[in-house]
Amino acid sequence: MAGRILIDKLLRAGALERTEWIELLSVWREEDRDYAAELARQVSQLYFGNKIYVRGLIEFSNCCKNDCYYCGIRRSNQKAQRYRLSKEEILRCCEAGYDLGFRTFVLQSGEEGPEADLETAGLVADIKSAYPDSAVTLSLGEKSRETYEMFFKAGADRYLLRHETAESAHYAMLHPPVMSLDNRKRCLRDLKDIGFQTGCGFMVGSPFQTAESLAEDIIFIRELSPHMVGIGPFIPHRDTPFSGKPAGSLELTLFLLSLVRIMLKNVLLPATTALGTLHSTGREQGILAGANVVMPNLSPKAVCKKYSLYDNKIYTGDEAAEGRSHLESRLQAIGYETVTSRGDWRPESK
Ligand code: 5AD
Repeated sequence: MAGRILIDKLLRAGALERTEWIELLSVWREEDRDYAAELARQVSQLYFGNKIYVRGLIEFSNCCKNDCYYCGIRRSNQKAQRYRLSKEEILRCCEAGYDLGFRTFVLQSGEEGPEADLETAGLVADIKSAYPDSAVTLSLGEKSRETYEMFFKAGADRYLLRHETAESAHYAMLHPPVMSLDNRKRCLRDLKDIGFQTGCGFMVGSPFQTAESLAEDIIFIRELSPHMVGIGPFIPHRDTPFSGKPAGSLELTLFLLSLVRIMLKNVLLPATTALGTLHSTGREQGILAGANVVMPNLSPKAVCKKYSLYDNKIYTGDEAAEGRSHLESRLQAIGYETVTSRGDWRPESK
């Protein structure tokens, strides 16, 4: 009962007190999750109807200078086979994606240095001139404000940078000492300030996560008020320090998706690949919990396996020509349809 009262308050006020978040996130029951999902679906319906935005994800390099303890492409993982797609290969992915109807390309890679950033800026400009009706989203990690400005001037529209956890002590348990939550927050504020449609987010069930740290995540999200929020379960990777740790819970991930939808109403909320990896219908369940974006992988098959952030990452082939209709029919089966517009964030787009 207490859960339902707090969820109603969240819908009404768009916020809860820290203590209320901690209570809701530590004592929630199945019925609270069902209730939140129902409200979240109604909110989604009001703002987006039954439309699901589709983004083509291109994982163009797994080279990374960071060493995050949870991530399979961390620098110290000697077993990772490193690759970087050429400009031509990436443009071919975009071309194939464009022909399939994709109007957003999400370029993601490990965190690379200034040389790669320059190349990426050139690539963004090329994609935007070849496909002026498409949006380009970047997900390349922490950069200087100047570098973000360079990407923006090159034509990038959006930037995804998960904050991972909004509690500094927890952040330090997930990352080496050279990384800091303060810099991550600085990046997110710069991105928003520059004019990117900006996405933050976190993993559910990352080691050492608590109801308190989750409460901080939600409070931070509300304060940043991003255009997108990426939430997926933590899934261990065998060649990382977190090998053998338990994966995050499907139910808690779905509950958090619903709560974020109820709080931020018109936010863009993907049903993530990690959710689809945890459960065969994870992404559909995500949509039924309030998500409104899916991001099929457009990367060439040969490199898909090498972009291994966690174990058993799915590669469904839903992105291939035949697969696109498979995705469509899976969504249709739960009452939704994909749209091929850019799907920009819109204020009060009820
Ligand atoms: N499990 C789930 N998600 C992960 N990510 C990185 N490693 C893992 C993992 N082991 C997520 C991080 C990162 C995004 C690109 O992938 O949240 O921001």
